[in-house]
Amino acid sequence: MISFQTHPNGQAPISSTDKPLTPQIRANGIDVADFTPPRRLRIEEIPQIVNDFRLAARNAIEAALLRSPYIKISDSPHSLVPMRKAFKGSFFVAGGYDREDGNKAIAEDRADLVVFGRLFLANPDLPKRFKLNAPLNKYNRDTFYISDPVVGYSDYPFLEDNA
Ligand SMILES: Cc1cc2nc3c(=O)[nH]c(=O)nc-3n(C[C@H](O)[C@H](O)[C@H](O)COP(=O)(O)O)c2cc1C
Repeated sequence: MISFQTHPNGQAPISSTDKPLTPQIRANGIDVADFTPPRRLRIEEIPQIVNDFRLAARNAIEAALLRSPYIKISDSPHSLVPMRKAFKGSFFVAGGYDREDGNKAIAEDRADLVVFGRLFLANPDLPKRFKLNAPLNKYNRDTFYISDPVVGYSDYPFLEDNA
C-alpha cells in the first residue's frame, strides 16, 4: 500500500466532501493506489485557501522569473533535445518562440512543429506575417484570461487593417 502523507503537519487533503476516493487497482492487478481520506472544507475556510493559492501562484511566477533551475526545464533552446531524441512520435515545442528561433528549431531538427500561443492570439494572420516577415501586433496580457469572447481574443487587427 502507498501512503500519501504529503500535507504539512499530517493534515488531511481538503475537498468538498469527506468521502474518500475508491482505491485504484493498477494495470498489473496487484498494486493498489490508496488515497488519504480528505477533510471537507468549511465555508469560512475558503477565503484563506484562495489566498494560499494566490500566494503560491505568485511564488511560482517569481521563481520562474528568477529562472530557478527547479522550475524551468527549458532555459536553453537545446534543453529539450534529449526528450526529442527519446520520443518516437511527432515532437511539438512551445513557449516563447518567435519567427526566428522557431525556424531555427525546425532547421536544426529540434522539433517537428513549433507552437505559437501568445503571438497567434495577437496576430490572427500570423503565418502571413511570418511569411512576409511583417511586424507583429503586441499581445496584451491583461485580456488573456477574461471571459469576454471578443476582447483579447478576436479583436486583434489583421495586417490590411493597419494599412
Ligand atoms: C490566453 C491564453 C490561452 C491559452 N489557452 C490554452 C488552451 O486552451 N490549451 C492549451 O493547451 N494551451 C493554451 N495556452 C497555452 C499556449 O498554447 C502556449 O503553450 C503558451 O502560450 C506558450 O507559448 P507562447 O510562448 O508561444 O505563448 C493558452 C495561452 C494563452 C496566453
